[in-house]
Amino acid sequence: MRKLLALLALVTAPAIAADDLRPPLLLTGQRADVQDLSGRWTYSKDYYRTGLTDINGWVAKSRMQRHRDVDIAAEEAKPGPGFFEFDLDRGPGMQIPGAWNAAEPELRWYNGLIWFQRRFDVPAPKAGTRSFLRFEGVNYRAYVYLNGKEVGRHEGGFTPFVLEVTEALRAQGNRLVVGVDSKHDAQSIPGEITDWDLYGGITRPVKLIQTPATFIDDATLRLTDAGRLAGSLQLNGAQAANAQVSVQIEGLNLKAQATTDAKGEARFDIAAPAALKRWSPESPQLYAVRFASGADAVNERMGFRTLAVKGADILLNGKLVTLRGVSIHEEELGSNPARRMTESAARALLTEVKTGLNGNYVRLSHYPHNETMLRVADELGLIVWSEIPVYWTVDWDNPAVLLKARRQQAETIYRDRNRAALALWSVGNETPVADNRTRFHAALAATVRELDPSRLISAALLVEREGYTVKIADPLLPHLDVMAVNTYAGWYGNDTLQDLAKVRWDLPTDKPLVISEFGADALAGHHDLGAEPKKWSEEFQAAYYRATLKMLAGIPNLRGLSPWVLKDFKSPRREHPVFQNGWNRKGLISETGQRKQAFDVMAEHYKNQAR
Ligand code: GCU
Repeated sequence: MRKLLALLALVTAPAIAADDLRPPLLLTGQRADVQDLSGRWTYSKDYYRTGLTDINGWVAKSRMQRHRDVDIAAEEAKPGPGFFEFDLDRGPGMQIPGAWNAAEPELRWYNGLIWFQRRFDVPAPKAGTRSFLRFEGVNYRAYVYLNGKEVGRHEGGFTPFVLEVTEALRAQGNRLVVGVDSKHDAQSIPGEITDWDLYGGITRPVKLIQTPATFIDDATLRLTDAGRLAGSLQLNGAQAANAQVSVQIEGLNLKAQATTDAKGEARFDIAAPAALKRWSPESPQLYAVRFASGADAVNERMGFRTLAVKGADILLNGKLVTLRGVSIHEEELGSNPARRMTESAARALLTEVKTGLNGNYVRLSHYPHNETMLRVADELGLIVWSEIPVYWTVDWDNPAVLLKARRQQAETIYRDRNRAALALWSVGNETPVADNRTRFHAALAATVRELDPSRLISAALLVEREGYTVKIADPLLPHLDVMAVNTYAGWYGNDTLQDLAKVRWDLPTDKPLVISEFGADALAGHHDLGAEPKKWSEEFQAAYYRATLKMLAGIPNLRGLSPWVLKDFKSPRREHPVFQNGWNRKGLISETGQRKQAFDVMAEHYKNQAR
């Protein structure tokens, strides 16, 4: 059936095969020669995008071309008629990475193009090296220039991209200029309307990476169901073909060699040592893995485990697993978040899940999160659901939009496929059932199946109500390994909390079910001690959680929960002047980390479940 469906999806799939979606450069893995360009960058607003094009689509006026490699103050000191209407050297500055909406009051609601500049030197450039800029996330479109030369562009706010700058780089006084356009539109992924904040800007780190002339662009390794360590290594450069490569796992006394083929790719297929300890939430064993070839080496910290669905069960290392989790937006704790997800910020959130909630799982919604979250989840032992922002509605009939979504899916898979914690790829959230929408998601699912057959495919689906019976009639189901649905009965709609006891779930039971969202708003510290607490109070939210957990308990193939949401988060859709003020208050904790009563309800539920 699955092969038939994959065939069906392929029949409707777009022209570009999954293998052709591999970004030309990846530079995944931890390597030595990296210069982090985080820090103070200057910026120049460009509300009418005059730095890109002039009126009527004419070429931008040179006096407005932000990317020009020119010392404007020095030019102005000379005689002559020339002048400029920008100067990134003397412009205001802000801390990068981080969204501009949180950086300056005047930029709080700015949604458009801003140019950023970073000057930098290159310590002791070595002859024969190649140089790359790796952007880990720029929301939403990026136009990149180095020393006045355009070096590349990218669309998509949540996935990395790598640009080679070997020719454009100089030893001193490099001028990196990045145009960032946060504007989304009917053809972007996600579309224009979401339930989260703008967060425009260079929101994740930018790094200068220098490599030997032939380098390791990507390397993977995973534990197969047959008990072998299988993987690949891709070289890039003139000497990529027919080259010796190796993989070494400290602590397992394992070292294996391989030879690359004509395309520079080598494959590993090694019997897993008997001493190998598998990764699990209870025992998140990570190993230092070193891939090497010639003068280059890449280090990874990796866990090894197997994952499968068998009937209505999810199996991790062959054992049943129930997902005890919560949904999370990429937004750090604090009253003015800038989507600056540092390791300590990620650890603060994920520790609340692991030890606060007694959780073993996180739904990283609604888009690929900062790679740091995945690495901390690997370390803490939290299974991860990763999601592509095909959210609510996109332009289903537009092949170019489908290609964008498939590219984002591929960019995420190539970035995260070495993370043991990552178990589920979600191809969307709450999209209304229609033929064009199902074809779109099915093509995405087929792309996932081709690029990463080792993980499970899901999507957060909408349910239908017939009185008190909840049903699901979604033709996407056969393409999914794990069924997931969002439900808000008792918060949205007319159900009282007492009504939830009447709800009957009439869903398929032939595959695992995750309730990917349920939740209710509460303002932390707002209480209602009455017999029937009103909405917005912590007491109502706690009662909603107790009633919902009771309603869900009877579902026979329920294998996971990720209530909406760990932490209150910023959203322009939430403007109640007493309870919201621009925050979605469904968090189990407030934006500053204050636990609400519902947090304890969930923690108790998971503690009992984990016994
Ligand atoms: C939806 C959606 C979330 C949203 C939530 C809410 O299900 O998936 O992104 O924030 O409901 O209404 O709070």
